[in-house]
Amino acid sequence: MNDDRLEELHGEVPGARTHELGVRLRACESRGVTYLSDDFPVFWESASGANVFDVDGNAFIDLSGAFGVASTGHANPYVASAIADQALRLMHAMGDVHPTEVRVQLMEKLAQLAPGDLSKSYLAVTGSDAIETALKTAILATGKPAVAAFKGGYHGLSLGALEVCGFEQFREPFADALRSRTLFLDFPRPEPVAGEGTAAAVATIRDAIAARNDVGAILIEPIQARGGCVVPPKGFLSALRALCDEFGLLLILDEIYTGFGRTGAMFAAVDEGVVPDILCVGKAMAGGFPISAAIAKPAVMDAWEASRGESLHTSTYLGNPMGCAAALANIGEIERLELVNRARHLGHALGARFDSLARVPPVVECRGRGLMWGIELRDAVLADATVKAALRHGVILIPCGTQGNVLSITPPLTIAERQLYRALDIVEDVLCKHGGT
Ligand SMILES: Cc1ncc(COP(=O)(O)O)c(C=O)c1O
Repeated sequence: MNDDRLEELHGEVPGARTHELGVRLRACESRGVTYLSDDFPVFWESASGANVFDVDGNAFIDLSGAFGVASTGHANPYVASAIADQALRLMHAMGDVHPTEVRVQLMEKLAQLAPGDLSKSYLAVTGSDAIETALKTAILATGKPAVAAFKGGYHGLSLGALEVCGFEQFREPFADALRSRTLFLDFPRPEPVAGEGTAAAVATIRDAIAARNDVGAILIEPIQARGGCVVPPKGFLSALRALCDEFGLLLILDEIYTGFGRTGAMFAAVDEGVVPDILCVGKAMAGGFPISAAIAKPAVMDAWEASRGESLHTSTYLGNPMGCAAALANIGEIERLELVNRARHLGHALGARFDSLARVPPVVECRGRGLMWGIELRDAVLADATVKAALRHGVILIPCGTQGNVLSITPPLTIAERQLYRALDIVEDVLCKHGGT
């Protein structure tokens, strides 16, 4: 199967088979999971590179990378065969009891890639899981129960991660069950005058931190992903690092979306030379197999007591061998195909493309870095209509932003240029001709 095809549609999208499966899904899945309507979504049958094929035989260009996960391309053959080989040899070991060599190899690799002296990992399964591990680590290392996090920050939806989630709509139904100890800070927008925004934002954060004595760490995404692809002003992350040092706080970087090359650097904060105390990674690490990690400085990670046989924090699938093999193969592909450089170069080239998109009337702003961009529209209704119209024209994309009014562009880092530009042309066309409808 070619993996650099343009869109190919046969008849109505969504097609008959999708509609049929939608009815069956409705009957057997919690209605809280999948949004189903007459014009969205499509059922995926297979995917390859930057193409997704649905159950009605339509081919789409994927601008989502399936939440940024399929960095080396959907169904990357090296990653797929690493999983298959590992599955035939050893599919599952015992989380915190009997380990495997492949787990050692992965954590050695993470130590090699992580900035500074971050060299000890706690493996986990989902992004939320890695965040919860980092939060527990911070509590043990600092003796303080609270963290500061940012409005618009997204770190997952499990109950512990929800405590630090900067999206009110996810917290609200569970508010009574959530502790209110998180200090929520404003995430600064790029400043009109260089330096001013950073200084003002950091001064406000300093006051907020100084007013509390229970905060042990600051948790931040270097670029808010689901928050709407919000890039902080230059110098903000390093100022935050300095503030953490001043107050003896840990800096926890959530690079679950931005990590492994997405922004044109192996890790986005590296662009500013920022070394966190704990780095959370997931998503693109294994290209589609669920595995994540919290990677920390040894002194921080050693806040955990040595296990005496009953680990204080573990799960059945911790360090699953297929996940470790998938991550090693996927990272190998990122290196072999030089995808970090590719994302950086394409990101520079895309600047001009997004400048012209930004002039289309319903677009408020285009912003991003590498292969992580957001197209902010005037409202969520338009974003939703654009996502649906793009699907009808053969492009998969998703909305993001706390208001749902931003189109998220995070394709596989392997996407062919002709696919990328074609898909962006389709999005622009939809925005111009149909105003998103
Ligand atoms: C930055 C960030 N952190 C954490 C998470 C949570 O990851 P998961 O959905 O695997 O729990 C996400 C998911 O989108 C994310 O974007």
